[in-house]
Amino acid sequence: ADVPGLHAAVLSWYAEHARDLPWRRPGTDAWGVLVSEVMLQQTPVVRVEPAWRAWTARWPRPADLADADPAEVLRAWDRLGYPRRALRLQACARELVARHAGEVPQTTEELLALPGVGPYTAAAVIAFAHRGRAVVLDTNVRRVLGRVVQGVALPAPSLTRAEHTLAAELLPADPERSVRWNVGVMELGALVCRARAPRCPSCPVLDRCAWTLAGRPPDEHAGRRR
Ligand code: ADE
Repeated sequence: ADVPGLHAAVLSWYAEHARDLPWRRPGTDAWGVLVSEVMLQQTPVVRVEPAWRAWTARWPRPADLADADPAEVLRAWDRLGYPRRALRLQACARELVARHAGEVPQTTEELLALPGVGPYTAAAVIAFAHRGRAVVLDTNVRRVLGRVVQGVALPAPSLTRAEHTLAAELLPADPERSVRWNVGVMELGALVCRARAPRCPSCPVLDRCAWTLAGRPPDEHAGRRR
């Protein structure tokens, strides 16, 4: 496969079409990125945006959230849903203060030890906060790679070893390019390569998409999905 061509197509599409989301702005610190990733886990971008702005204005550093009244923390979480995430984020802030001098750590191992941080969030923080190389695999990324590279309509219900290996092989060697690749593939999944109504005519990798070249066969796991 023409991996450099795939990289170039996604990176130039992202440069043109990326949404201007507040946590992607250059001044955002690692804590702001971590808060955004926890909020985005189960809540759409449109609802996260105002909540993230209010939250990071009120508790700009982990130490601020660590000291907050939990009732107020839950109120600020408000309509984001799954309110246990708010309390876990506060527990995380307390851990950061107690064990990491109030900073967000840089290694996968340290990140995974934090409350509410799993493999996806740890990788996203390394990529988008610390601008390092990490295999970032959320449902959008899995769907895009599944279609473009593997030729399947939708990924399997849970992440496989083979998908992780494939994503690791596709990650650009240069860290700065790897960051833009990760967010670019994710954005392509959110805006173009959507689960239900993909906008294939607008896709920058349409001519090299294995799923399209195969005639866009339907989802092979359909019977086992809700
Ligand atoms: N940018 C970085 N991570 C993101 C996410 N999970 N959703 C939307 N945009 C993002």
